[in-house]
Amino acid sequence: MRILRLGFLASHGGSNMQAIIDACKDGRLDAEPAVVISNNSESTALERARREGIPNYHLSSATHRDPAELDAAILRTLEEHGVDLVILAGYMKLLGPRTLARYRGRILNIHPALLPKFGGKGLYGKKVHEAVLAAGERVTGVTIHLVDERYDAGPIVAQSEVPVLEGDTVDSLAARVLEREHQLFAETLQKIAVGEIDLDAIDK
Ligand code: GRF
Repeated sequence: MRILRLGFLASHGGSNMQAIIDACKDGRLDAEPAVVISNNSESTALERARREGIPNYHLSSATHRDPAELDAAILRTLEEHGVDLVILAGYMKLLGPRTLARYRGRILNIHPALLPKFGGKGLYGKKVHEAVLAAGERVTGVTIHLVDERYDAGPIVAQSEVPVLEGDTVDSLAARVLEREHQLFAETLQKIAVGEIDLDAIDK
């Protein structure tokens, strides 16, 4: 079995990325972190990559003003590091058309709600949990989906429910959901690695 090479894009904390790296290190996931790209030169995600000895790059509109050049630079970086699967782990930007075309059906995003509910432009971070609480939902969760040119709209690969508890605040709910994100991402990637989940069958 060929070990899957993972390319991460992250904008901020990178805790999902770290959970996946940890799963690779302790043998729960047959994959290898190949490269980390961040649009934020000061992100904790880049710090984590440096700490783990994973090649890492800041690529953004600050380094490449022309969006087409940025798209090309991201694609080149992923290819140079032999990336099989692109993991969006809290990446706050849309990918460009060249990267999307080259890695079609091989780009995964994680969203902290049960899509198609509570997703789309403007629904990110705490805003998702605020909306879930405001709607009076009793159940929320985590979604991993394939990425296309829209926000939060590609085919769903995996979902896991998380209860909304009496007295939950945005922060308490966010923490419970994030913990589940960390589990679900590593588990889902392992299912992909061993062929239990077939991304080609989902990307129809
Ligand atoms: C997660 O809640 C994820 O669902 C969303 O962005 C957040 C990233 O968190 N897409 P982290 O950077 O992995 O800590």
